Amino acid sequence: MCGIIGYLGNKDAYPILMKGLHRLEYRGYDSAGIALLQSDKINIYKCQGKVCELEKYCEDKNLSGITGIAHTRWATHGEPNDVNAHPHFSSDGRTALIHNGIIENYQALKTELINRGYVFQSDTDTEVLIHLIEDIKKVGNNELPEAVRLALSQVVGTYAIIVMSVDDPNTLVVARKGSPLIIGFGQNEYYIASDGSALVEYTDKVVYLKNEEMAVLTKGDDIRIKTIKNKNRPHYIEKLEMTLSELEKGGYEHFMLKEIFEQPRSVADSMRGRLNSVKEIVALGGIVEYEEHLLRARRIIIVACGTSYHAGLVAEYMFEDLIRIPVEVEYASEFRYRNPIIYSDDVVIAISQSGETADTLAAIELARQKGATVLGICNVVGSSIARATHAGSYTHAGPEIGVASTKAFTAQVTVLTLMALCMAKRKGKISKTRYATIINELESIPRKIKTILDSNDLMKEIAAYMKQFNNALYLGRNYNYPVALEGALKLKEISYIHAEGYPAAEMKHGPIALIDEDMPVVVIATTNGTYDKVVSNIQEVKTRKGKIISIVTQGDTDVRNLSDYVIEIPETEEMLVPLLATVPLQLLAYHVAVMRGRNVDQPRNLAKSVTVE
Ligand code: F6R
Repeated sequence: MCGIIGYLGNKDAYPILMKGLHRLEYRGYDSAGIALLQSDKINIYKCQGKVCELEKYCEDKNLSGITGIAHTRWATHGEPNDVNAHPHFSSDGRTALIHNGIIENYQALKTELINRGYVFQSDTDTEVLIHLIEDIKKVGNNELPEAVRLALSQVVGTYAIIVMSVDDPNTLVVARKGSPLIIGFGQNEYYIASDGSALVEYTDKVVYLKNEEMAVLTKGDDIRIKTIKNKNRPHYIEKLEMTLSELEKGGYEHFMLKEIFEQPRSVADSMRGRLNSVKEIVALGGIVEYEEHLLRARRIIIVACGTSYHAGLVAEYMFEDLIRIPVEVEYASEFRYRNPIIYSDDVVIAISQSGETADTLAAIELARQKGATVLGICNVVGSSIARATHAGSYTHAGPEIGVASTKAFTAQVTVLTLMALCMAKRKGKISKTRYATIINELESIPRKIKTILDSNDLMKEIAAYMKQFNNALYLGRNYNYPVALEGALKLKEISYIHAEGYPAAEMKHGPIALIDEDMPVVVIATTNGTYDKVVSNIQEVKTRKGKIISIVTQGDTDVRNLSDYVIEIPETEEMLVPLLATVPLQLLAYHVAVMRGRNVDQPRNLAKSVTVE
């Protein structure tokens, strides 16, 4: 939610900032803006809409300047318009600020500042911060860094900010709490951004600023880091693990399509070095030190949001089946506010692609306060969640840029499967034969995904049929229930067709009333223990004139005979079906969205990284 970028050095700042904004646009695209330090003035260019609108707006402007900051917004406080766009500036126009996060106590601070004579231009919470800094700077005659620090110590909420001032032209002040911020080091220059994608072509030397830390970046000087409570902190330069090609569409029309097609590779990468089918070894290095906690756990609680929550549901079925430990899966947003019972011998697993989801982070904090062991499954290396957990495993899916999560889901399920297998073996809960069968099957998943991707044309044909409807139901049972939820989420978020995922047997408890000839029903009906029951559920839909689109195991005839459209997937172990069955549903959602003329990679109202509640 909101992307921020800053540059301080000797090059022209505008092209660096503009390219960075394009890279960070997945974080929000309600408005965009740039502030450049030009001679003894800050000039701000900002407007409602996407980054390309800003680019057009800037075409005839003077864009010189070697210091600047830029922002792409996902609106929280104040509607998306030109005035509410960042950067925001002080009353005297000498200081400018960009912000990702939410200032929760902004109303109280605003009232106080208005009483002191400040006039507000926008409806944002952010503008409070710049006037507060201005006030502290003036009243206490403070330098910019100290004014920023004192202002932040009055703030309740989350922030990643970059501040620049005419009064201190060789310095940028940056700080973070809750929202991410990374500082890159060039030749006598600093690059700052919400994530590494905006810096990757300039440097691979970075510092991930920690929570409640601020940094003073001065040209020609060493970085100075301290906490908001004014304690000096050392800094550790890390290598940015990212390549430029991962951030490009590579010939695909959309990032989402590229990411769907990357899954044979990304699933293989998430297993690499962790699975050896010949020696029958499964090992997750990242959690080795905490394996004993998992083995002794009274209970496993999985916390996540959205698609990651669906991966958690698959894990629940798998862990209970293989390890025989009770598992609860919770939306992190509910968990954090409902006073849950957490024992010190519980293990909490937080799943997150971005590693920045505010609700998941808060759930982790709560679990840690109650003494539980917290493990993370994240995609983004160095992310807040990866740092906030005791230990964890990265999914190694590579950057996911399309707002709708695809390859992250299959990578999460793969890592969770490895975890389940590893624990089942150590606990002695799985027979040698079953263990070997699942390992072998898991290894064949990338190849099987490839064959599913070959049915892309069929998915287009089904999409051409689906696109005319305004509602859809997705049904599945057992391991296929989370797949139904995920399929429905994909369709609704990018095509804006209303879609519901349901356990197939729950139909008769209400949703069956919705069935008529205008209701397409997507059923995941692969051969498994509940196959016959699902066939009956399909018949119930058919009797009421519903249209059936089914996902079946290769060679199936019974469901085929009942279906309007059929998608075959290769046979595999029941618990691994989600890794295959989700893929055609991603393609289906993608093609429906394209055919309905939607912005697939940047669906309305959404952002990739949900750093606000
Ligand atoms: C759906 C989607 C979201 C995310 C959710 C959690 O396609 O992308 O539902 O899954 O916002 O995000 P992470 O996994 O980054 O915590």
